[in-house]
Amino acid sequence: MRTGLAAFCFAPLLTLCVRAHFVLTDEYIGQDFLQNWSWFSGDDPTHGRVNYLSQADALSNNLTYATDHSFVMRADSHTVVPSTAKGRNSVRISSLKAYDEAVVVLDLQHMPEGCGTWPAFWSLSQQGPWPQGGEIDIIEGVNQNRLNLASLHTTPNCAMFPPRAMTGTTTSTNCDASVNFNQGCGVSFAKPASYGPDFNNAGGGYYVLVRSKTDGVRVYFWSRYDPAVPPEVRNPSPYPNVLNSEGMYPTLLWGEPEAYFPLNDQCDYASHFNAHSFVFDLTFCGDWAGSDYPNTGCPGTCDDYVMNNPQAFANAYWEVNSLRVYTPMQ
Ligand SMILES: *[C@@H]1O[C@H](CO)[C@@H](O)[C@H](O)[C@H]1NC(C)=O
Ligand SMILES: *[C@@H]1O[C@H](CO)[C@@H](O)[C@H](O)[C@H]1NC(C)=O
Repeated sequence: MRTGLAAFCFAPLLTLCVRAHFVLTDEYIGQDFLQNWSWFSGDDPTHGRVNYLSQADALSNNLTYATDHSFVMRADSHTVVPSTAKGRNSVRISSLKAYDEAVVVLDLQHMPEGCGTWPAFWSLSQQGPWPQGGEIDIIEGVNQNRLNLASLHTTPNCAMFPPRAMTGTTTSTNCDASVNFNQGCGVSFAKPASYGPDFNNAGGGYYVLVRSKTDGVRVYFWSRYDPAVPPEVRNPSPYPNVLNSEGMYPTLLWGEPEAYFPLNDQCDYASHFNAHSFVFDLTFCGDWAGSDYPNTGCPGTCDDYVMNNPQAFANAYWEVNSLRVYTPMQ
């Protein structure tokens, strides 16, 4: 873990910028994940055909692999799994530390892809119980999806209607997890290469979550070689000039986010969101990938495919270059 002094000045409008600086608080790279994240080995709450391994088992099976500069979490791609078993071996981890207002920059090299997969990078209230304190899904999709879906899942009285200042498309408006079978309020991304093989073939890219009590929740995405990747996002070294010397709000220069969940009179921040831990997981079939599977052009049934075709999961892995968290300067 390294810390630095890059700062984000922060406000929805330049004129409102009060020089609330966001400083680089935590940076997770490679082996930092082994120290600062916990491995979940219980049953998948979303009912997938998955067997989540402890950290020790994931390391000894090489389903978790860390160097000084890279961190990999993968599905088993060698074993035919008996139909009586819980599911294919995989990994689910969460950060020990939780964050409220923050700018979170994920530099991601590769995400899990393929039929039967349901990977997600998301955050949820450390305090809970779910959905109290909220859930923010930053990266999520299933099977052969090509566009990312970002969504919120909350307690009642939170809704997000179009039009909103974002490039993505509203797919559902009620964030209340107790209605619509917990669909939440979702936004499908517009940029190509935001998910799956297209994301991976482009060398991955950058996902940025911005959480602010005065602005709401934003999710930005840039493919790795997109010339529009902001320098302060691309480069881990501090950018004090860009971020605070002129009192500039950096996201003003970032264009519209892919997904924007603004504060509004149908959703206040304080009663729906508190400090969140971050989670990476990879499950198979289950509530979403399983029910969607018959419509995807994938072969056979989801369960059969996942249990009997280990070689199909060679690209079902996360490879994280870094995760940086900026929080308000005290
Ligand atoms: C990460 O783990 C190390 C070793 O236990 C600890 O000193 C450090 O405070 C942790 N950092 C975070 C952000 O949890
Ligand atoms: C473990 O996984 C890493 C990352 O994919 C790979 O580079 C390495 O060769 C693997 N090690 C073994 C022993 O298979």
